[in-house]
Amino acid sequence: MSKLQTPRLILREWQDSDIPVFVAMNQDPKVMEFFPELWSEEKSRDCVANFRKHFAENGFGFFAVELKENQEFIGFVGILKVPFESHFTPAIEIGWRLASKHFGKGYATEAAREVLEFAWDELHLKEVVSFTTESNLASRRVMEKIGMVRDVKDDFLHPKLDENHRLSKHVLYRIANPS
Ligand SMILES: CC(C)(COP(=O)(O)OP(=O)(O)OC[C@H]1O[C@@H](n2cnc3c(N)ncnc32)[C@H](O)[C@@H]1OP(=O)(O)O)[C@@H](O)C(=O)NCCC(=O)NCCS
Repeated sequence: MSKLQTPRLILREWQDSDIPVFVAMNQDPKVMEFFPELWSEEKSRDCVANFRKHFAENGFGFFAVELKENQEFIGFVGILKVPFESHFTPAIEIGWRLASKHFGKGYATEAAREVLEFAWDELHLKEVVSFTTESNLASRRVMEKIGMVRDVKDDFLHPKLDENHRLSKHVLYRIANPS
């Protein structure tokens, strides 16, 4: 599978040694602030298995992200087929989740820019979307910094959440292939 790199990061396939760190991340309230609940170990393990399957079936997915300076696994950034139906699907989403000690260093933006180049140059995608709950301002800022644009007419209620849930209202950002 493809391996990407940026000045500070390597985006690569998942290794078994990433899993304990990923399990701990998904039990960190700072990482999971905008998710309905913390994840069990089983849910995190299933998630990594699904990421690997998605790569095997599609040739792209959510990459494990590693720091070049010390090979530390710090989370994921990548693109995925949106796994539910909504007004904007079928679509390919770009997404990210990092360990909280690495927030605020520009890593998500740096990795996401490289992933978009991969989406355009290697996969020849026409468009990539991203979405998050309305109050997740850090994630929205990453979307804006990589050139994505929100149209309020695209806002939607997440189909897997009750419509009255505090996280239900989602914003959608889009970016088109520049070529
Ligand atoms: C979203 C996430 C990946 C961002 O990663 P990151 O490496 O810290 O992102 P960057 O440093 O590249 O950029 C973050 C930007 O958001 C801004 N930001 C952070 N917290 C913010 C807040 N509460 N309100 C407004 N802006 C905020 C930062 O200032 C920065 O913008 P700037 O460069 O203009 O100053 C990280 O916070 C994370 O993993 N969160 C938990 C998981 C998650 O919510 N994933 C997204 C689900 S849709």
